[in-house]
Amino acid sequence: MKEKDDQRSLHHHHHPRFHNRLLHLIKKLLTNPTAYFILLLLFYALGYISTASSCTQPPPPPPQSHVSSSRPSVIQSTNLPPTLLDNFRVTTDCADSIPPQLVRPTILDKIFNGSSPYTNFPPPHVSQLLRRSRIKGWGSYGAVFKHLINKVKPRVIIEVGTFLGASALHMSNLTRQLGLDTQILCIDDFRGWPGFRDKLNDIQMINGNVLLYYQFMQNVIYHDATELVLPVPFSSGSALMKLCEWGVAGDLIEIDAGHDFNSAWADINRAWRILRPGGVIFGHDYFTAADNRGVRRAVNLFAKINGLQIHTDGQHWVIYSSVNQ
Ligand SMILES: C[S@@+](CC[C@H](N)C(=O)[O-])C[C@H]1O[C@@H](n2cnc3c(N)ncnc32)[C@H](O)[C@@H]1O
Repeated sequence: MKEKDDQRSLHHHHHPRFHNRLLHLIKKLLTNPTAYFILLLLFYALGYISTASSCTQPPPPPPQSHVSSSRPSVIQSTNLPPTLLDNFRVTTDCADSIPPQLVRPTILDKIFNGSSPYTNFPPPHVSQLLRRSRIKGWGSYGAVFKHLINKVKPRVIIEVGTFLGASALHMSNLTRQLGLDTQILCIDDFRGWPGFRDKLNDIQMINGNVLLYYQFMQNVIYHDATELVLPVPFSSGSALMKLCEWGVAGDLIEIDAGHDFNSAWADINRAWRILRPGGVIFGHDYFTAADNRGVRRAVNLFAKINGLQIHTDGQHWVIYSSVNQ
């Protein structure tokens, strides 16, 4: 103890003497022009080196949208160089999310000139070409829908890929049974895919325009779900981007549109931005024959670079936005 105290006091006594010597040296250098010049050069070089090295720092993380601000950043959660991920990242800024009860009026206003698309349906030129109800789905009644609706009790569901409305109408039945006041938005361009009529040739066409949209609407009317289900009849990319701009967020988002890697990847990334905190995103074809066309690869990559866990339920993949679910 004594030795330690001695050392401390020795150290304290050394300080002023060392200081004086240093000051003396600096004074001498400053009065000598050559030494002054060398000193100046030295400071300049040190300054240059320090600024040059700061350029090698990684760029700041991308701007976060209001909806996704609490989520892990792509850059922080992966070892891939940020420049590689920059090409794939969706950076659109979403507006603050609007309350669930404003979702339907907002969609009616922004997409349908303020009136319901079901009014005066069907138009006379298609009425003879529609069936009273024509449903065809794929995994559309899987247990995952019931599980997630029971768990999340969603006020807003966004479906990306609807076709004739099998899964959307199934979800509307489930929310109705639970007495939930849920709005379901169905994003689909209602084109199907080239050649789909090889198997569904009872879906009629007028001048090459396939009547998928009209048959979907007819199905919604037949199942008395016009107040619960609204179409968003555009490509998934532009529709998801607009919902984000308008502040429309979903508690539950289902991804079931294009099944190639690029489509699934883009849809998942865009949908993730409009998922309400605590919400769940899920999709079909994680295990079916179509899976390795790209859906599973897209889901796996998305989960990996965002540090998220993939759950499975039947043929579906499920990702919770909150870790404790
Ligand atoms: C497999 S079906 C959806 C089935 C539906 N979820 C069900 O279970 O009943 C895929 C749908 O995605 C739509 N689709 C594919 N790519 C799309 C895109 N880029 N934008 C909008 N819709 C798209 C097709 O028109 C088709 O109706």
